[in-house]
Amino acid sequence: MTVPLAEYDELKRIADEELDKAYIPYSHFPVGAALLSETGDIFPGCNIENAAFGSTMCAERTAIFSAIAKGQHHFKAMVISGRTEGAIAPCGSCRQVMVEWFDKNMPIYLTNTSGVVVKTDLAHLLPGSFDDLK
Ligand code: THU
Repeated sequence: MTVPLAEYDELKRIADEELDKAYIPYSHFPVGAALLSETGDIFPGCNIENAAFGSTMCAERTAIFSAIAKGQHHFKAMVISGRTEGAIAPCGSCRQVMVEWFDKNMPIYLTNTSGVVVKTDLAHLLPGSFDDLK
């Protein structure tokens, strides 16, 4: 039997709150994220767009980089939320960045604001990933 994540509701609340903080004048497509570190801290993230589209930052990487900048390198779970019909799906760049920090089996919850929750992990989101130069 899998033990439910005690912090899930809090992570989901924060990821949903981030939807209103997303800076999305170009796509009008909000994404929210909440990342739980091993120390129990929660790092929020939203997407932040730019007139030079390639300079846009996704919600997931905003959360991860914010945590790294605070000296946190070990994580327990991430919740991602979108106002999508089904569960939101992280982009390829975010999946590759996740590989740098997340264990292959760390729970990643892909959700929307209508009650859809898909629990997955990097073993499924990015199998066969490039993750080591050694
Ligand atoms: N976006 C994210 O924040 N995360 C993803 O994984 C997918 C895409 C953002 C980037 C851009 O601001 C908007 O969604 C549309 O692509």
